[in-house]
Amino acid sequence: MKIAVIGSGYVGLVSAACFAELGHEVVAVDNDANKIELLKAGHIPIHEEYLPELIARHRNQRLNFSSDLRAACRNADVIFICVGTPPSATGEADLSYVEGVAKELAGALDSPKVIVEKSTVPVGTCEAIYRTLVLYGASPSDFSIASNPEFLREGTAVMDFLCPDRILLGVPDERSRQAITAIYRPLVEATYWSGPTAIRFPNVPSKPLQIITSVKSAEMIKHASNAFLALKISYVNSVANVCERVGADVREVVHGMGSDSRIGPRFLNPGIGYGGSCFPKDVLAFRSVAASVGYDFSILTEVMEVNEDQKRRFVSKVRDAMWTLRNKKLAVLGLAFKGGTDDCRDSPAIDLIKMLYAEGARMVVFDPVAMERARNVIPDGMVEYAQDAYACCTGADALLVLTEWPEFAALDWQMVSRLLNLPIVLDGKNLLDPARVRAAGMQYFGVGASAELAAAEQKYSTVPVALLPVQRADVPALAS
Ligand code: UDX
Repeated sequence: MKIAVIGSGYVGLVSAACFAELGHEVVAVDNDANKIELLKAGHIPIHEEYLPELIARHRNQRLNFSSDLRAACRNADVIFICVGTPPSATGEADLSYVEGVAKELAGALDSPKVIVEKSTVPVGTCEAIYRTLVLYGASPSDFSIASNPEFLREGTAVMDFLCPDRILLGVPDERSRQAITAIYRPLVEATYWSGPTAIRFPNVPSKPLQIITSVKSAEMIKHASNAFLALKISYVNSVANVCERVGADVREVVHGMGSDSRIGPRFLNPGIGYGGSCFPKDVLAFRSVAASVGYDFSILTEVMEVNEDQKRRFVSKVRDAMWTLRNKKLAVLGLAFKGGTDDCRDSPAIDLIKMLYAEGARMVVFDPVAMERARNVIPDGMVEYAQDAYACCTGADALLVLTEWPEFAALDWQMVSRLLNLPIVLDGKNLLDPARVRAAGMQYFGVGASAELAAAEQKYSTVPVALLPVQRADVPALAS
């Protein structure tokens, strides 16, 4: 198929590269001419595993880049809209970018087209796109509007695209059903995987379910799914808070809960709350959609409350461990909103840095890939940037782990213990193995296990290990 993808951001760029990987002719469009030039030159603006290989494989062949929307759409059979839908000031999704594309498309439909809304949008958006196209002169017989929501997680977006649990199509007619099912056929029939160049992911993918619904149901499924995942996280964070008070260990509790196939083990990791460019905005938008039709989706209000409160609770935990925060030097590992990505949008780690700074703490920070993006959202002078995790710990009064990067779990804790002024580790993601941290003579504070429980399990009772002079030469470079 000939495909035009409008919007070359996190969703559009991954979708365009994966459509090309499936054998389609793709033009990725963006109104940012500079971004298009960078893409044409082979530069990848986002950190996504496998994306560089896919773009290098198909660039200037099945995958091309353009800022000429009309030309790209004129030559396409199917047009995917993948532009941003950021939250407006009052919480509902800002659909002005989607509307802008619809206006431009109205003048570009010189033959029958299938237009597919892939961005996360409120239910009813496809109807609004239809009305806009007709309003700006398009003939209803020239196009169909379908919904194909994506379920891509940042950092694993290529794998999520090629190995989805389900491919969801909301189609209004046979023309759009046939066109979009043809696009995904290599995945649905799993013929892609028998090809010689298929990406070899760690676990062999199963055939995805292809779910075909009405357009409105597909739009609802996306918002309802994301809001449910956020709810699941706020729920387990609340369970963790109760565990701390009753002396239970949330790690054991979630293991017992997650073993129930009706609950499942995933998205049951308590921590400092969810962040990113999706959950916060999608929960707000979904609640706004409900409010717009007269339903008070009050559970979602509580989901957001718990999420914000989780950060305040962690600051209290740090303050309690340090007695006072003023002039304390804290090592902060992790800036991205989660491991595997360089994205700092709505990052809980950065929210916490600002909250700790407001209480007078001084911070040295490190993140394996998000440092540059973090500099754009952390006010100048608020933190010091370290070159690696060990340098970050050197001379700090405590270590905070705020992003689930696997390399942080693999640190040499004896070395960390010697580098820290005080042997205190606060793990905002329950990423670390408490026993290994304590075995190095440090106090470990996670989320969802009571401090008393931590103290009781604390093997060491000596005074904080004196900081031995550590030669830079013997500090192993952070395992890449
Ligand atoms: C999410 C949805 O998972 C994806 O399906 C949708 O298409 C886009 O939004 P993303 O925001 O990239 O993806 O990341 P995700 O892996 O869902 O994590 C979101 C946030 O929740 C992160 O801050 C993460 O650290 C946090 N999280 C996740 C938890 O705190 N606990 C968990 O158990 C899982």
